[in-house]
Amino acid sequence: VHLSRRTLLKGAAALGAYGIGLGAASLYRSAEAATPVTLEAKTADALLDGQHLTKGVMTYGADGAADAMTGPPMPPTLRLRKGEPFAAKLINRLDEPTTIHWHGLRVDNRMDGVPFLTQPYVYTGDSFDYAFTPPDAGTFWYHPHCNTLTQMGRGMTGLLIVENPEDPAFDAEIAVNLRDWRLGSDGQFIEQFKPRDAARNGTFGTVRGANWQVEPAFDAPAGGLVRVRLVATDVTRIYTLKLAGADAVIVALDGQPLPAPVPLDQAVLGPGQRADLVLRMPDGEGQTVSLVDARPSTAKTVATFRATGSSLKRDLRAVAALAANPFTPPDLKNAEAVPLVLSATAENAARESFCGSLGYSFWAINKVPWPGDTSDPTAPLAELKRGRTYLLNLENLTPHLHPIHLHGMNFQVVSSSVRSVPPLISDTYLVLPDEKVQLALVADNPGDWVLHCHIIEHQKAGMTSYVRVV
Ligand code: C2O
Ligand code: CU
Repeated sequence: VHLSRRTLLKGAAALGAYGIGLGAASLYRSAEAATPVTLEAKTADALLDGQHLTKGVMTYGADGAADAMTGPPMPPTLRLRKGEPFAAKLINRLDEPTTIHWHGLRVDNRMDGVPFLTQPYVYTGDSFDYAFTPPDAGTFWYHPHCNTLTQMGRGMTGLLIVENPEDPAFDAEIAVNLRDWRLGSDGQFIEQFKPRDAARNGTFGTVRGANWQVEPAFDAPAGGLVRVRLVATDVTRIYTLKLAGADAVIVALDGQPLPAPVPLDQAVLGPGQRADLVLRMPDGEGQTVSLVDARPSTAKTVATFRATGSSLKRDLRAVAALAANPFTPPDLKNAEAVPLVLSATAENAARESFCGSLGYSFWAINKVPWPGDTSDPTAPLAELKRGRTYLLNLENLTPHLHPIHLHGMNFQVVSSSVRSVPPLISDTYLVLPDEKVQLALVADNPGDWVLHCHIIEHQKAGMTSYVRVV
């Protein structure tokens, strides 16, 4: 795609307003050259439990962006290309404010979609133009950052795939949007959360789903190699995913390619996390492979893959590593430590907030419970100097798991107090009870970046903060 000189200058001038001359060579340049996809935030009725039409589902409608696999009302799966400009016009047809956050994508801060911190609300009837050029290829997703327990709980969790033209070709590709629904026996939404659960593991859905269906069956070529993109977009559930009936390798986690494919035993995905598998389909036509959430006591098949046609006779050992994304290696010798302590809080101050805090403070980061999205946020956790390496010393003082997500930058996992961890690059770390972990990052993207637990009740009941990169 051709960027005119004028576009580049415009972009550079706008960034200059932040006092940082990023210039056009930055990874995080805005993209004003792409034809925008329209994403209309709206409500719809949908068959989610397979039996009743659920009213008041919240979703995105799109023109020209829908993937063949996704029919309405599942939000369209967006397909971008690494290094190519992308633009989306959000039009708000809900009767409350919204925004879009591009989960896991390293974008310019103004495009990050966090009300008050990076952009104003998009009110009913208004629109907002997002534009960026993704520096990384992989499996990502998008969702609002406003009244999220309701908006995401009712459906606004869409997949976003950034293709890399250099990726090897597979015989098929299937993207699976894993999430549940909190419905009553009549198929209608019930209370989104229980305070008692919000103060523990979160409130679970009642209907387990994948791609807005109950246990969908996907066809794939017999004996073929299938790239399966698994995305955990549920507001609460932590998945332990296994395959029954076939072998597979993991080629990427949280959008980031692994240095070499790893045989799949299980993939544990907290809310927000992704795994890219390459699955070798069985040879016999009609044979099926089950994708199982194997967490004890709630074990369930969430989707199946059915072999079609005569066998392509592929070999799983032929699967090579995907090309790595750009990542500036942290300078650990000169790293500065940033404490990041997760705890429960006794301060149960219900505060007024516009954008959907739950009215409870059960959780805190560095002892400060996030007051909800407001025009007067708390001070940043830390001010990071651009280009320097930081070690986030994440410490979980709670008996619960928390998928901690950082916006705008990727970190590398350095060490854990309770397990041996590979040096994964990621945007979300699922921290175990009582675990201490070190996450290293180079502060290379200027702006205010939230970090929060992606169990949305935890996020909205205090477990949110942000760092400022200057
Ligand atoms: Cu998917 Cu603030 O995150
Ligand atoms: Cu949490």
